[in-house]
Amino acid sequence: MDRYGVFGNPIAHSKSPLIHQLFAEQTGQVLSYETLLAPLDNFSGFARAFFASGGCGANVTVPFKQQAFRLADQLSPRARRAGAVNTLKKLETGALLGDNTDGAGLVRDLSGNAGIPLRGQRILLLGAGGAVRGVLEPLLAEHPAALVIANRTVEKAEQLAHEFADLGPVAASAYDWLDEPVDLIINGTSASLAGALPPLAASLVQPGHTCCYDMMYGREPTPFNHWASQLGARQTLDGLGMLVEQAAEAFFLWRAVRPQTAPVQERLRRQLQASG
Ligand code: ATR
Repeated sequence: MDRYGVFGNPIAHSKSPLIHQLFAEQTGQVLSYETLLAPLDNFSGFARAFFASGGCGANVTVPFKQQAFRLADQLSPRARRAGAVNTLKKLETGALLGDNTDGAGLVRDLSGNAGIPLRGQRILLLGAGGAVRGVLEPLLAEHPAALVIANRTVEKAEQLAHEFADLGPVAASAYDWLDEPVDLIINGTSASLAGALPPLAASLVQPGHTCCYDMMYGREPTPFNHWASQLGARQTLDGLGMLVEQAAEAFFLWRAVRPQTAPVQERLRRQLQASG
């Protein structure tokens, strides 16, 4: 059976095996998909052994996306630009292709699933770590009117804005420089993990107009989405949709079949709500 999996550490609670099992059932593809707990000090040896013993493809999650970038023999243009790989595929030649489907997953969830326009919009992107780097190219490809990257450590936002300036109207900011309302705010910080929220002015959210998207998700609304709802945001969405969409992009790369994501997202949402 064709073998796939997800590398991470920790990895036990990953939702990827369930997502890919549901995709496989739905599309009639015969494959296996498992969690792959890679050692922190030897990701490349562990990954090479998986592919040498018949592995066809893998997802890569925290903390190995940059190491996977270095491991890949070939890179897709979007992975090269992101500087990180979340999907590996063994090619017929035996070479390992590295791709990054995170940004495409976000854009598909925003504009495809939620119907949130991106073209001509004023977008504020919070954070300047790996999660934000991975989505900049696909977001700029949608031709926003302006994309501002805000970060606690403003130098990191400036560095990213500089690096992606050739792709569109991107600028950097500190949080306390921002007060004009925007059309869309995307939280790509890890602050929600700690139950925290970047220090944002309430005036950024225009009631009934501004949409807010947190790349994190949980059983309860994230602190960022809670903040946004209280200010009357038109829509608040969390990252469960992005998780399923990036997986669908990876599945497509491996199997050349595009699964339907809506029923899988609904199933995961039900499971999340039933947990805890
Ligand atoms: P990831 O790969 O998930 O993006 P990362 O590279 O460690 O993780 O980046 C985490 C991001 O969340 C950074 O932008 C970080 O801000 P700094 O660069 O200033 O550290 C941001 N972040 C984490 N906790 C935060 C908090 N409590 N408030 C605001 N920003 C936070």
